[in-house]
Amino acid sequence: MMDLTTTFLGLKLRNPLIASASPLTGSLESIKKLEDNGIAAVIMHSLFEEEINHEIRQIDHFLQLHSNSNPEALTYLPNEVEFDNLHSEHYLEEIRKVKEAVDIPIIASLNGVSAGGWIKYAQKLQEAGADALELNITYIPTSMEMEGHMVEQMYIDTVAQVKEHISIPLNVKMNAYFSNPANMAKRFVEAGADGLSLFDNPTRADVDIELLTSLQRANITTSANLSETLRWCAILYQKLPCSLCANTGIHSAEDVLKAIMSGADAAAFTSVLLMKGEEEVSVILNNINDWMEKHEYVSITQMKGSISLAHTDNPSAYERNSYRYALQHYR
Ligand SMILES: Cc1cc2nc3c(=O)[nH]c(=O)nc-3n(C[C@H](O)[C@H](O)[C@H](O)COP(=O)(O)O)c2cc1C
Repeated sequence: MMDLTTTFLGLKLRNPLIASASPLTGSLESIKKLEDNGIAAVIMHSLFEEEINHEIRQIDHFLQLHSNSNPEALTYLPNEVEFDNLHSEHYLEEIRKVKEAVDIPIIASLNGVSAGGWIKYAQKLQEAGADALELNITYIPTSMEMEGHMVEQMYIDTVAQVKEHISIPLNVKMNAYFSNPANMAKRFVEAGADGLSLFDNPTRADVDIELLTSLQRANITTSANLSETLRWCAILYQKLPCSLCANTGIHSAEDVLKAIMSGADAAAFTSVLLMKGEEEVSVILNNINDWMEKHEYVSITQMKGSISLAHTDNPSAYERNSYRYALQHYR
């Protein structure tokens, strides 16, 4: 009997397949279908900083109105912003409902950029029953005065503050565009990340030439987008006390196997589910089983990190040589 189990964020998973955040994971019906088809864990669609802050501002506005009409009312203002009975409550209610309906781990998702008051909401997600929390920080700096280290520090501060508010495991969904992703991975873990997703996939910048406006589109990937995921799983395997989740470009059993061999503990995907539906999970699982049987693997653990750079004396030289070889031996 094949052992497909793996451990991610300290959670024991029945296999390495995770549904990453998307509109699919905002629907209880889809989450149930994903579970029925064998998914091991689900990352819910994100709750955005802007949504929480909008509500904080609305409360402020409301309290200010009252305080203006009666200055003494100021003494009755709560010190802490109360989030209850607001729109974001729906997200908490979703977590509670999903947790009741399924047995697999449910990972909540917060999406924001700044170390501000909204971060307290992380605690609410934990209280609602989330088994872990994923944090997606996506910031596109446009100021030429903002130096790289300032952007990096903003990311690190946000992770550290979120960590202060929760005791459940924290997964940081990284992007691949830091000068040195390995250094950022290390600093995320030092700031409190228990796991890293490599990597988030940015939206696509586009232009609508009829409306004369720029726009961004959610990016549907293919297996060709797996490259950076594999590269960095292989580089970071066994380098940090955290789990690694391959994320972006996972479309097939082969992609999952490549990610595990590179050093990933789990593989998360969205595009393939949006294109082919929840049933694709069982197709991928069956194909993983078949491949392992054919190649006489008995467990995921056995193949984990087997082609990583963990035992390479000089990984940078190895990467440089492979790069040179690929260009010079093109046929
Ligand atoms: C339509 C759509 C919606 C998404 N929504 C979210 C989201 O709410 N939060 C988030 O962190 N990532 C979101 N993502 C990113 C996915 O979780 C995933 O990281 C990305 O699509 C790369 O994985 P893939 O190659 O399997 O598609 C979204 C992606 C798509 C295509």
